[in-house]
Amino acid sequence: MVKGMEVLNGFNTFVDQHKIGFKLTPILVGELYLAKSLKHPVYVFIDETFQPVFTSGTPPSKEQILQLIKSNFKEVYVYREDQEAIKAHLEQALLKITRSLSIGDPLQNGAKELKLLSMNLDNLYRDPHSDERLMLQFQSIQNLGKFLIENKKQQSLLFQNLASENFHFTMIQPMLSSMLLLSFIQNLHLFHEKEVENLFSASYFKDIGFSMIPSDKYDLKDLKPHEKDLFANHADFSFELLEGRLPISKSYLSIIKNHHFMNDRIKNIASKNHPHDEQEIIYGIESTLVSVFDIFVAMTSDRPYRKGMTHYKALEVIKKIMADDYPQEFKALVIFLKQFFKN
Ligand SMILES: [Fe+2]
Repeated sequence: MVKGMEVLNGFNTFVDQHKIGFKLTPILVGELYLAKSLKHPVYVFIDETFQPVFTSGTPPSKEQILQLIKSNFKEVYVYREDQEAIKAHLEQALLKITRSLSIGDPLQNGAKELKLLSMNLDNLYRDPHSDERLMLQFQSIQNLGKFLIENKKQQSLLFQNLASENFHFTMIQPMLSSMLLLSFIQNLHLFHEKEVENLFSASYFKDIGFSMIPSDKYDLKDLKPHEKDLFANHADFSFELLEGRLPISKSYLSIIKNHHFMNDRIKNIASKNHPHDEQEIIYGIESTLVSVFDIFVAMTSDRPYRKGMTHYKALEVIKKIMADDYPQEFKALVIFLKQFFKN
C-alpha cells in the first residue's frame, strides 16, 4: 500500500489487468519530476496488480512524488506515449544543463547534471542502440569531465550527493567510480588534462554492456552458470556496443574491454592460484586505476543481498592486487581516499 496516498479505483478483473499490463512501461519514480503533463494515469504495481495512483491531465506534485519515494517505490508504470514525452523532457533538461554547467552555482549545476545523466543512462540501458542517446551521454560526460576538473573543491560533495540518491547501482556505479578516478588522477599530476578527461569518459562507459543482461538478474545473489557468464562478459558487451560508435581512440576502447582484469586477480587469490601467472597480460597504470576504482565502489556499496564493506577492508583487497606493481600509486591512493572522504 502507498502510505498516505489514496489508490484510485483500479482494475478488478484478471483480463483488465492483463490488458493494462501490455500498455504500461516502467519509469523511475524520479522521472515523474520531468512530466509536464500526462495523458493517462500513473500506476504502481502492488499486490500483484497495477493500481492507478495519479489521474491523467496534471502531472503529480513534488509532495506526491516524495510520498512514493518514501513508500520505497523505485519504479512506477505509465503509458508508452507518456513515457516518450517524459524521456524527451529528460533529454532536453540534460542538454540544457550540460550546455550551461559553468554558469551559476557549481554545486547546484553539478548535482543536477549528475542526477539527470544517471537517469538518462538508465534509458540508454533500455535502448543501447540509440546513437542519439549515446551521443547525448558522450557530450554530457565530456563537459562534465572538464567541469569537475575546474571545480576540484566540489568533487567530494558532488560524489556524496549522488551516492546518497536512491538510484539503482547500475545507474550510479559507473559515475561514482569515474568521479573518484578523475579526482585521483588529477591529484597524481601524471596525466595531461585531456588524458584525464578521456579516461573519465572511458571509465564511465565501461559498464554499458549491462544493458545486454536482463534487468531482473541484477539484484539476485544466486545466479545460474549461464547468467554468471553474462555478467562476466559485460566488458566484452560494452566493447562491442561502443566500437565504431563512440568517438574515443582504440587504447581507451581496450581499457573498456579489459576493465575487469583485476577481478580475475581477486578470484585467483581466492582460489589460491598465483595472482600473476605467466598468461596474465601486463596492463598499464590507466587500466589498473579504472579497474581499481570500479572494484572499490562496487565493494563499498550495498547490494540488495549484501552490505558494502568498509573502505579499510576494500583497501586491504586492493593492496593485494595492486601494491606489487604500483606501490607508489597504492600509497597515494590510500592518502587520497582518506582526504576525499574526510567529512
Ligand atoms: Fe564492470
